[in-house]
Amino acid sequence: MNKYLLDFPFYTKDPDTKSALDSEILRLVHDYGTPFYLFHEKDFCENFQSLCDSFRAVYDNYIPSYSYKTNYTPYICNLVKQMGGYAEVVSDMEYTLAKRLGYPDSQIIYNGPCKGRCMEEHILNGGISNIDSEDEALRVVEISRIHSNKIIRVGIRVNMDIGAGYISRFGLEKDSESFRRTIDCLKACGNVVLSGVHCHISRARGLEAWQNRIDGLLDVISNYFDGAVDYVDVGSGMFGQMDPSLAIQFGDHVPTYDDYARVVAGTMAQFFSGSEKKPILFSEPGTTLISKFISLATRVDNIKSIRGKQFVTVDSCYYNAGEICKFKEVPYRVVHSAGSVNANYSSGITDIMGYTCLEQDCLYHDFKEPVSVSDILLFGNVGGYSIVSKPPFIQPDCQMLCYSQDGTIKVIKRAETFDDVFNTFITEKQ
Ligand SMILES: Cc1ncc(COP(=O)(O)O)c(C=O)c1O
Repeated sequence: MNKYLLDFPFYTKDPDTKSALDSEILRLVHDYGTPFYLFHEKDFCENFQSLCDSFRAVYDNYIPSYSYKTNYTPYICNLVKQMGGYAEVVSDMEYTLAKRLGYPDSQIIYNGPCKGRCMEEHILNGGISNIDSEDEALRVVEISRIHSNKIIRVGIRVNMDIGAGYISRFGLEKDSESFRRTIDCLKACGNVVLSGVHCHISRARGLEAWQNRIDGLLDVISNYFDGAVDYVDVGSGMFGQMDPSLAIQFGDHVPTYDDYARVVAGTMAQFFSGSEKKPILFSEPGTTLISKFISLATRVDNIKSIRGKQFVTVDSCYYNAGEICKFKEVPYRVVHSAGSVNANYSSGITDIMGYTCLEQDCLYHDFKEPVSVSDILLFGNVGGYSIVSKPPFIQPDCQMLCYSQDGTIKVIKRAETFDDVFNTFITEKQ
């Protein structure tokens, strides 16, 4: 066990820690090869707990429902389950994973604009599902007609202007004709219970937008649900924990979990203060929970200069680093490898490029530290939309290692192989 790798953040400049940490990373590179993802289990679990603590201090009936699409690594989903989190899924594939991990339907939230066939099984078994369109409501009405002996509970995804600066395509527009018609047609079914409200609007992580979101949902409960629901699901779109070097790129003040809890859980607590029944407050953290706790280790393959511009090419690609590397500079560390004493080293500003043949495959623009061939670059905060968004483009995906809570290293995803990619195709000549 190496205590330095369990200490977070590991972008430390402290010379003693740095050299111990560098040798540990080089040992991993030696034992497992590059590239690899590195999952920091202990810190992830602490982060999960800290989110729960902040919300429950204000409103105790709070449950996070982990957004599978952000990073559905089963090992991570299992940790969430062990800590009492629910699963938020948006496809039959993700639903099947949650079921395989042992979730009962009552602890799975099935969302999304185009739900698969399993949605029927899910709601008939007491699962939570948020309706996204009037057509989906008609599908639920039909299911309830066929299964008239079953009680079906569904929620409504509410679309409203919370100040995001664009028109979201998800959910039903609050107070519109379609919204009213949808609620009326569900209420008209004897065996359908409208049991919750949901809202998720991305790209609006500020506290003001969050106040608008919770106010709008509570307004729907007052006006359409006679004040009573089983749950209020606020989706996610909160800032998670992050390295200071990244936080500073989001402006002066990145809200903390306590700040969000004050706004969201605080407004809930006030609204339901006189009620006997306190509905569950769900949020659906994805990037919020996982981003900081996965890093990518990648090796410098070659360095070149073309018409005054320097390019460093590494053995991973921008899909591995996830969407964040397209608009922010992620935290990083450079580990100089013993074998990196090479005449070829970068000097001055360079772009760190991936192995694909895409001009836009850049993991980091204007990288300022010198690197040599065989050096290891460790990019942090790559947990969201990386593993799940890596296509089999040019190469299959790499392995994922985990620093587990007991300090051992586990492989929690093996590297994908040629067969993983080509088994779905017919390869014999017909
Ligand atoms: C419905 C829904 N819930 C939850 C999330 C996860 O949000 P975040 O990654 O901001 O925590 C998303 C992400 O787009 C989403 O669409």
